[in-house]
Amino acid sequence: MSIIGTDISLAKKTLENEDLVAIPTETVYGLAANGLISEAVAKIFAAKNRPTFDPLILHTHRLDEVKKYAPSIPAALQVLAEKFWPGPLTLLLEKNELVPDLVTSGLPTVAFRIPNHPLTLTLLQQLSFPIAAPSANPFGYISPTTAQHVDNQLGDRVQYILDGGACTVGVESTIVGIEDEKVVVYRLGGLSIEAIEAVIGKVEVKSHSSSNPKAPGMLESHYAPRKPMLLGKVEDLLITHATKKVGVLSFQKNYLNTSSNLVLSPTGDTLEAAANLFSYMRLLDSQDIDIILAEELPEAELGRAINDRLRRAAAPSH
Ligand code: TXA
Ligand code: MG
Repeated sequence: MSIIGTDISLAKKTLENEDLVAIPTETVYGLAANGLISEAVAKIFAAKNRPTFDPLILHTHRLDEVKKYAPSIPAALQVLAEKFWPGPLTLLLEKNELVPDLVTSGLPTVAFRIPNHPLTLTLLQQLSFPIAAPSANPFGYISPTTAQHVDNQLGDRVQYILDGGACTVGVESTIVGIEDEKVVVYRLGGLSIEAIEAVIGKVEVKSHSSSNPKAPGMLESHYAPRKPMLLGKVEDLLITHATKKVGVLSFQKNYLNTSSNLVLSPTGDTLEAAANLFSYMRLLDSQDIDIILAEELPEAELGRAINDRLRRAAAPSH
């Protein structure tokens, strides 16, 4: 058990002390440390059991701060920053020497994000450094969307949990960078492709290549519950697995009419579905069932990011 509360000055002191604080954001909770001090950042990798080849995102509260560590921002990314920050958007930018190699796993780029959560923005305004923060879950497991999720899994490894309530977006940020002067999306997330393309035109999506060394965190099996999860047509899966105790994670329809079928959004709202996704996966994981059956959403808006998480959660290597 960690200390959970809304004391921003305690969170600030703890971070200044080079210890870990879990922070709320609109996407998922982050496990934060002073992003300029390697010794502090190393505590994040240790607490999560995260391999150091998987780089971290730096968080701050304004674009001017970002420029201290990534002075040249390509024009298209600057447009996105101005339009969508604070928000569920992470930009890959060329870093300067102030950013420790441990943060970027030795890559020449650093990931930056201005999160949209009032408590965390207030905290960031009071700090003299950006904070490095991956999602506050053990490596490979489902990301946390409440303070309680963090406490359940990392409570003994984090000094303080800043409680900002349930995350409103519910899936991680969309990660965007530049390759050969073209805008590329490396991770589908809480900012939809449609929203990005409405501002800067067509972009390329490269989030599915699990072998892509540019995004080491994009492992095929990730965001996964401990129970096996199968993705497909729920009616068919129910027949194939009729002898097992099954749980169902569906989009709009309740196939079982029991509490073992969690429905992401009865009205078909992908925003609502995203906000429920990870906590429903956790709920099913904690039930007395053998297997979780899940279905994909229509491949549009936040349905894309949700499908991406479902596919990784169901990936066989886990
Ligand atoms: O919404 C979010 O982005 C949350 C909240 C806490 O901000 N954070 C998050 O962090 O999801 P994490 O560590 O779980 O995922 C960060 C991913 C890495 O796995 C990696 O794929 C990518 O960001 N990344 C970070 N730095 C990168 C870099 N320099 N080049 C390529 N990919 C990078
Ligand atoms: Mg993560």
